[in-house]
Formats: sequence, C-alpha cells, structure tokens
Amino acid sequence: MIVDRQGRRFRNLRVSLTAACNYACTYCVPDGKRLVAAQDELSAEAMARGVAYLIEAAGIERLRITGGEPLVSPKLDAFLHGVRGLGLSDISLTTNGQLLARKLPILLEAGIRRLNVSLDTLDAEHFRQIARGGDLQTVLDGLEQAHAAGLKIKINMVPLRRANLAQVLPLLDYCLERGFELRFIELMRMGHLARDAHAFHQDFVGMPELLEMIASRYTYIQASAPLDATALRFEIPSRQGYFGIIANESVPFCRTCSRLRLSSTGWLHGCLSSSHRHYIGDLLDKPRHQALPALQRLLVQALADKQEVAFSGGATVMKIIGG
Ligand code: GTP
Ligand code: 5AD
Repeated sequence: MIVDRQGRRFRNLRVSLTAACNYACTYCVPDGKRLVAAQDELSAEAMARGVAYLIEAAGIERLRITGGEPLVSPKLDAFLHGVRGLGLSDISLTTNGQLLARKLPILLEAGIRRLNVSLDTLDAEHFRQIARGGDLQTVLDGLEQAHAAGLKIKINMVPLRRANLAQVLPLLDYCLERGFELRFIELMRMGHLARDAHAFHQDFVGMPELLEMIASRYTYIQASAPLDATALRFEIPSRQGYFGIIANESVPFCRTCSRLRLSSTGWLHGCLSSSHRHYIGDLLDKPRHQALPALQRLLVQALADKQEVAFSGGATVMKIIGG
C-alpha cells in the first residue's frame, strides 16, 4: 500500500471512459464545440486491465466511471464486462443523463447502484442555453426510470451567477421530493476558466451565498460524510432529505483526498489541480508481473502530486449550521 506523509492513499479510482461528450456546456467548452474522442484513446479491454492492475498496485476499492460523457462511448459494455468480478466494493457512474433511459438495463446488469447526474436547471430554455445539446425532458425521464429501478441518485448542479442562480431552490425541491441528494458544485478553475479569471469571477457563486439562499426556505444542519468525500453534507430534517456542497474554492478537501484518475488516453492523475500526469497506457499491454513494479513507481509519484495542506478544514466546517 502506498501512503503519503499526510496519511493519504488512493482508494477511489475515476476512469474517464472517453473525452467525448454530447453536450457543450458553457462552463466546459466556451467555443460551443462538442468534445470528441481523442484518436489515441485506450480500448475497453486495456482500461479494464488498468483497473485490475490499479486495484492490486494501489489498493483501489471503489470505481467511478466518468467522461466526457461515459454513456456515449461504444466501449461502455465491454468495459463494464471487464471490471466485473474484480472485487470492487462499489462501481458508480457520473453522467449527464441524456442516454440514461436507453443504457439503464446494462448499468443495472453491471451492478451499478449509484449514479451522479449533472443537471444545472429545470428550465428547458436555460437548459438548452447551458448544455447546448440534449433535451431536458429526456434527462428527467431517464432520472424517473433510474429512480424507479432503485438506483441511488445524486444530482450535480454548478451554480452560475449569470445563468441558473434562480434554480437553486427549485432544483432543491425537485430533489427533496424524490429523495435525490442535490450537490452544488462551486465553479472550478478548469479548462478556459483556469486562464480567464474574469470569466470565472463573473459566474462563481460560493458556499456562503448558497447556504444563505437555502436558509431562506429551510433549516438545515450539518450531516456526516465519509472523510474523503468531495461534498460537505447537510440535512434538512423537515424534509428528511440531504444536500451537499462541493466547495472546491471555499473549503478545499485536498487534505483527505483519496482519488486517482485514469484518463481515456492512459494518463494517471494523482491530483486534479496538478499539471503532473503519468503515462501508463504502454504498461496495460504488458503482463501483470512486468506492469505492476513499474506502475507502483508511478503511483508513488502520482501520490506526491497531491497538494500539501496545512490547515484543518474540518474544524472550520463544523461551525456551519443554518436556518
Ligand atoms: P461520490 O462521492 O462517489 O458521490 O462521487 P464524486 O462527488 O467524487 O463524483 P462526481 O463525479 O459527481 O464529482 C462531482 C464533483 O466533485 C466534480 O465535478 C468535481 O468538482 C469534484 N471533484 C471530484 N473529484 C475531485 C478531486 O479530486 N478534486 C477536486 N478539487 N474536486 C473533485
Ligand atoms: N466547475 C465545476 N464543475 C464542473 N463540472 C464540469 N466542469 C466544471 C467546472 N468548471 C461538473 C459537471 C459534472 C461534474 C462531474 O463536474 O457539471 O456534474
């Protein structure tokens, strides 16, 4: 097991099955051009082998399948088949939901029980403006079907000052009615937003403001969450429901981060905020006894890429009680 000076290790693996997406969200691709699969993306078999090797080399326990948009990938079936029986305690998927109804049977068959679905608004016109692809009602239908099938659902909303701030409470009510956990994701400085501070600040909405909006309608209390969770969780006792805030900016969670990422082109990332990455695509064609020692050396480097954090975020967070 590889552990760093802060006691962190890789427990959760996020695999980006493809970089392609059927949306072109304003905060992701400012030019409106849809992301397409890179020429050099790994095969489903190589990616599944990567998962198997990383379970052994890093002690990965949980797998989350992401993209791009994973449900557009023709590799989905073969990948799900490949990671079956590897002994993972949890396989989950993050999706924009557009193809959810269509793909639901294979997700259920693969043993997926938890879905995180991106949904930034319940207003069809605003949906078109933000996502620039897909159709709101199709997502909502997919969600109802997934819910009826017994999947545990979290909804991801990125609040954007100029686009969907008025949707914070309607989305919260929609989720509370269905027992979905809504997570508000503070806008992250990714892609063009890492280079354009002005665009970032124009749209960024922080946790204090979100909590104030929610407190105008509900009393909430802080709820427990796994130590390495991305989201701070809150309970609304009167509705017997929960919501979360992924406070990337306000309360960074690097101190307890246990995530490792594998990109669709075979790069390992130990930290989302670091520019360092480590190529393992070539190792995935090698037999286990050759691949594992090399992989272990790269994992030590990937773990060292995680941010050193000196503060105790937990102490600050415990003071938050609203309503
Ligand atoms: P569960 O805890 O299993 O529900 O998954 P998750 O919250 O990690 O998954 P999801 O794909 O829904 O990610 C939601 C958001 O969490 C992403 O958009 C990011 O904003 C944030 N996130 C996930 N992983 C990281 C990370 O390693 N670092 C940072 N800063 N943010 C992350
Ligand atoms: N900031 C915050 N969240 C983002 N997502 C994509 N880009 C950003 C960004 N710049 C969200 C998606 C999805 C989740 C996995 O990441 O909306 O819900």
